[in-house]
Amino acid sequence: MTEPRVRWADPGDAAAVAARIEAEVRREGPKRIAFTGGSTPLKVLALLAERELDWTGTTIALTDDRRVPDDHPASNFGRIFAALGTSGAQFERLEEGAPVARFDLVWLGMGEDGHVASLFPTMQALVRPGATVIATTPVPLPPEAPFDRLTLNEAALKATREIILVVTGASKRALIERAIAGSDAVAGAWPVSVFLRGAGPQVTIYWSE
Ligand code: 6PG
Repeated sequence: MTEPRVRWADPGDAAAVAARIEAEVRREGPKRIAFTGGSTPLKVLALLAERELDWTGTTIALTDDRRVPDDHPASNFGRIFAALGTSGAQFERLEEGAPVARFDLVWLGMGEDGHVASLFPTMQALVRPGATVIATTPVPLPPEAPFDRLTLNEAALKATREIILVVTGASKRALIERAIAGSDAVAGAWPVSVFLRGAGPQVTIYWSE
């Protein structure tokens, strides 16, 4: 019997996420991993930074970033580079409109409104065809990160062997369960839904309290 396309990892905590990323880094040959932003990854990044891993064959890309300088506290690149900048991994920057190559693994977080990367339920976006980077501005600007964004678009995020969706807390779990069940009235009300329903790569959901 084939595995369901969308499944829940057990356990789904930071150690399990770090183990999944470590397994990808340890795979033979070059690999490309897109890292999410936000605060949830901080524990995982700390665990990865402690491990003796050979990152030289790995390209670290970002699913999205706020359009702030690298040394700004809200910079996703800044947080990831602080943890893994000396690992030997190659870093791939987000460049608006640039074509984006396929990934081996895409690591997504999710907001309480069902946004993933910087694809928001309501946003201003310069939509572009193909797997690329687009400029978005969430509407309204979230008080915790009131910035314009650059983000991989849906096609780029789906061009991967696997997506891991890493979330914490009961409310995000409930939203994901409702999205899988198709409860969001208007398709696209929650951006996460397009990754959980219909065609797409395998999605493994890592949930913890
Ligand atoms: C960002 C992220 C975004 C994030 C969610 C969840 O730039 O903010 O890429 O999509 O994953 O907002 O963020 P937390 O993990 O901080 O809840």
